[in-house]
Amino acid sequence: MPRRHTFSSFMAFSIDSSSEEPLHRQLYNELRTAILGGRLPTGCRLPASRELAQVTRLSRNTVLSAYDQLIAEGYIDSRAGSGTYVASTLPDQVLTGPEIEPVPTLDRTARRLTREGERLRAMPFRKWPPLPGGPMFFRAGLPALDQFPMDTWRRLTDKRLRLASVKTLAYDEPQGYRPLREAIAGHLAAARGARCSPDQILVCSGSQQAIALAQRVLVDEGDQVLFEDPGYFAARAVFETAGARLVPVPVDEDGFDVAAAVQAAPNAKLAYVTPSHQNPLCVTMSLSRRRALLHWAETHGGWILEDDNASECRYRGRPLAALQGIDPHGRVLYAGTFSKVMFSALRLGYLVAPPDLVATMVRARELMDRQSPGILQAVMADFMTEGHFARHLRRMRTVYASRLSALMRAVRDHAPDLLEIAELEGGLNRVAWLPPGLSDTEAVAALQPEGFACLPVSEFRLRPGGRGGLVLGFGGMSEESIEASIRRMARILRPLVSVEVSV
Ligand SMILES: Cc1ncc(COP(=O)(O)O)c(C=O)c1O
Repeated sequence: MPRRHTFSSFMAFSIDSSSEEPLHRQLYNELRTAILGGRLPTGCRLPASRELAQVTRLSRNTVLSAYDQLIAEGYIDSRAGSGTYVASTLPDQVLTGPEIEPVPTLDRTARRLTREGERLRAMPFRKWPPLPGGPMFFRAGLPALDQFPMDTWRRLTDKRLRLASVKTLAYDEPQGYRPLREAIAGHLAAARGARCSPDQILVCSGSQQAIALAQRVLVDEGDQVLFEDPGYFAARAVFETAGARLVPVPVDEDGFDVAAAVQAAPNAKLAYVTPSHQNPLCVTMSLSRRRALLHWAETHGGWILEDDNASECRYRGRPLAALQGIDPHGRVLYAGTFSKVMFSALRLGYLVAPPDLVATMVRARELMDRQSPGILQAVMADFMTEGHFARHLRRMRTVYASRLSALMRAVRDHAPDLLEIAELEGGLNRVAWLPPGLSDTEAVAALQPEGFACLPVSEFRLRPGGRGGLVLGFGGMSEESIEASIRRMARILRPLVSVEVSV
């Protein structure tokens, strides 16, 4: 009786799940090599796909794909009702001729994405349910929407719609509506000490798109990006999903530690910074560090992406001029937004690019989503040129100053043992540091079901560890609600601290 060849002797698989080579392809190679090397001789019965999936800890679809390919190339036969066998005659060219790389057959079951798509698929991302309904106390980054001059906005919008012509409905300049770019350039010069002409400004869909455009044009897969640690997670996600290597840079009371950055990665491609109002720590980068960063960019050919997200929300004195305004070499790209000074759903922001990058940035924008809505841009331009914007900003500064005082007072009165907030200027958020030992994710898990939307500082960290803290968005809350919420927060957190201490 002829000897029956079985598969059992062939168990040595070396499948590497971290390899870039698809799993079905690795399994195909393993089996093919075993067939050609005689370890799986002709006539040998291969296990059923389900069985092999168990042995190899691969999915059944992966095994089926590998089998499909081996069948297509004649290495194995599938006999209905009987099983799968190594073919009695192997493909001639494989046995006698040079190695030919087999043409991959289409894997009909895999849901193949780009590397960036795979990174996006794997990325954890916090998603708050929309307001109203979702948790809302201390929601980070939320401006005082209740104070927005809706009547003025409605009037200006009505006027624009009444004047709308056929031209209004057509595509417009991808770079942005010229009168709006002029108004932004004027505002940046006066309020932020930026130096730019309207020709350097691209109107974007919020500063998030400005960050995405900068990444697309300046940062390749594998490039190093100097990144504040802790830092703004949605900017980090842009660079991470693009495959950049993020280099964590510590932030202290003088902001982004340039010396540490230069030591860690002198040849980084880009530094992402929030110098005027660091997110989340709210510190301001000192002038000497700003100069040092500009010096690094100039001497090492690096780019600086200055995210000036909440810089206008400053209540006293003049802020330090934007980095962009003191950059003599055109190394800084400046991202700004109307999300915090107007309202977040407006989705209008801007990117100020060095003159030689503008055309490329505009092309990138055009390929992404062409332009921001024309009527909205025109209304925003009217809002600025008619003086409503400057008036609204002035009023908001007073409102935010009062809300921040309310927060500091409430913490002093109701939670001095639980929350520690540094005396800092400006912004819409504050970090409240928790007692050492209390984890911020645990605190957020206890607070969220009670309607709190504050974020854990750990979510902003690139390196784990460090003291736990809560990012409290106070800008969107009334003074009364701030006081009541801190009292409630203290009641929820206090038992967690006692548990931590007694453990
Ligand atoms: C530092 C920073 N950059 C960018 C953004 C994105 O804002 P937007 O796209 O609404 O302008 C935010 C949002 O909170 C932010 O905090």
